[in-house]
Amino acid sequence: MAIVEHSELAPLADVIEPAWWSGAAPLDAAEYTIDCGGYPMDPAGLAHDGELGRRMRETFDRVGLVHLTNTGLTELVDMRAAAKLVVGREMKYVGGANPRDNLAPNVYEVGAPLSAWLHYHHEMAYVGRSTRVISFLASDVLPPAVPGTGGVGRGATFVSDSIAATDKLLSTPFGQKLKQLGVCYHRNLTDRDAFVGKTEYGVYNHWQKSFDTDDPEHAASRARDQRLAVEWGPDRLLKTRYYCSAFEYFAHLDRNVLYSSLADHGMWFDTWPLVQHLPYEERPLHMTFGDDSEFSPEELQEWIDLYDEFGMPLDWRRGDVGVICNYRWAHGRPGIHLDDGEARKLGVVLGDQYDRVGVRSDGW
Ligand SMILES: [Fe+2]
Repeated sequence: MAIVEHSELAPLADVIEPAWWSGAAPLDAAEYTIDCGGYPMDPAGLAHDGELGRRMRETFDRVGLVHLTNTGLTELVDMRAAAKLVVGREMKYVGGANPRDNLAPNVYEVGAPLSAWLHYHHEMAYVGRSTRVISFLASDVLPPAVPGTGGVGRGATFVSDSIAATDKLLSTPFGQKLKQLGVCYHRNLTDRDAFVGKTEYGVYNHWQKSFDTDDPEHAASRARDQRLAVEWGPDRLLKTRYYCSAFEYFAHLDRNVLYSSLADHGMWFDTWPLVQHLPYEERPLHMTFGDDSEFSPEELQEWIDLYDEFGMPLDWRRGDVGVICNYRWAHGRPGIHLDDGEARKLGVVLGDQYDRVGVRSDGW
């Protein structure tokens, strides 16, 4: 990736902004919302085999989504205890391409600027080790929508029904092409030393931060451990590629589900000031079909529309806990702009990691 001067910046290309949902939710809130007002939210009430834990796991098994409201909790450590009733064992975070900072023990920050929208995605779909479940802890929130108005709070997270999206996608020529070719995740990780004293054009993550080492050989070997193909570019640019199916076998439903999304496409940087001027293939992340061919503009739009069609908001009040099955639901959110005195902070809890298996031929 060349380090460009500001005068070379090109105007924004056509930007596709998600609509997030149609206005009609794919699942009634009563199916996944648990009002915690009637439960003791102390350590005894949050015991693994307590009534709340059992109800959360039954809800999660049935629909893959749990939204605890009215918890009265204010501390991330307590919200995490509630999330763990479903999440169980947590991920030991090792160097990946998107490191996160800790907000509390085993509670991570979202790891993206608030002002950028986050396309629908399944967590850690771009590496060979993913997670089965992700949880959000509502630490600082914006005013939620007024009940009954049909509005959506500015700080809402959106989730999209990936089972419905899979079925619709597979009924289209694009879906069949995706099934046949798979996808490739391309990453360009910059060298921290090449940017000393320079504006960080084209930078998302330096490989030193992603792989937690200053040794290029060590970084490359860690990348290979995650089943990434590794190549070095100019200025010690670490280029990785990961080829996989766009779908993943989900044992709980004994079927393949769509597991990839355009969150990992170069378009993710369409609104990032120091990156948006670069062509897609030179951006820090990019995604193509598995034969390295690009998605057409029509295919990009179709994929964005697909997750939007089956999306719905999860609006947060302080202390809320959301637990999301990483197979059955994609998650994302619009960009958030804070007014004076406002804060919006979610803690993230990641479930245990698993090695992706790809698809099963009898799982379609
Ligand atoms: Fe995420």
